[in-house]
Amino acid sequence: AFLLNRSSDLLVIAPAMDLDMYAHPSTQQNLKTLQSYGNHVIEPGTGFLASKLEGKGRMEEPENIVACLEQFFSQQESLRGKKVLITAGPTYEKIDPVRFIGNYSSGKMGFALANECANRGAQVELVCGTVSSSMQVNYPNIHRINVESAQEMFEACKELFPSMDSAILCAAVADFAPEKVAEQKIKRTGDEMVIRLKPNPDIAASLGQMKKQGQTLVGFALETNDEESNAQAKLKKKNFDFIVLNSLKDEGAGFRTDTNKITIITADNKKDYPLKSKEEVAKDIIDELERL
Ligand code: CTP
Repeated sequence: AFLLNRSSDLLVIAPAMDLDMYAHPSTQQNLKTLQSYGNHVIEPGTGFLASKLEGKGRMEEPENIVACLEQFFSQQESLRGKKVLITAGPTYEKIDPVRFIGNYSSGKMGFALANECANRGAQVELVCGTVSSSMQVNYPNIHRINVESAQEMFEACKELFPSMDSAILCAAVADFAPEKVAEQKIKRTGDEMVIRLKPNPDIAASLGQMKKQGQTLVGFALETNDEESNAQAKLKKKNFDFIVLNSLKDEGAGFRTDTNKITIITADNKKDYPLKSKEEVAKDIIDELERL
């Protein structure tokens, strides 16, 4: 079932097919490609199929398709007129002309958040580190600013934040950068090599200090241990309104995955969410932002 909204060229797809075909990697890949162009997929239902196989592939019930569309169109307007700053991806800190210190962040969570905010009508400023060229934004109301280092990300955010309603800091910012960047490629000498690092600015903490009444600041915490207490401490220290916690102990959460498992922590509350696609997680986070 295809539905075309001509005013914004929106395409919503409600696929229906046999289990083997739906589960086939090429079908799944094609659906992902369609979604990456900004189209929307209403997932099929689960149950008996025409072939007598049982599983996912039944076209979603028409009433549910209508409910999804109603929800979609009501959300489209929900952030109209709002400006949201989002940081995404890793920062690269130069060592010499060919080397850098980086991290495994893909930028997928930040891009999903940018698409979700844009889908709800917000004007999005997406400040993003070096990500794969396959990472694209699909909405005209997303303005993308590419940066490389934490310092560059900091400069861009400092300038933009005063005119924003909200900022969501999803980037994996390097905490340190080489004190000196070698002008020429560093040669192997056979000796051990020491690189002295200087601290980078804490973008989140600076925006937390700049925050004015009516502005909302959302942070992330990717932790490996003492997850909740570390996240609580960051919430306070950086003056976030809420923090999204990922634990590397949870399979499918964090860097280099298409899924995430989060806990949203506010000063007086905490809510755990199940493992979901990063697009679905973005919806939960933006729902929480809207509630605030
Ligand atoms: N962050 C930031 N600027 C930095 C470091 C972090 O804006 N220089 C933001 C991240 O985007 C994230 C939040 O702060 O939203 C927490 O990041 P994290 O790296 O977990 O925090 P750190 O303060 O660097 O703590 P840690 O010592 O655990 O690395």
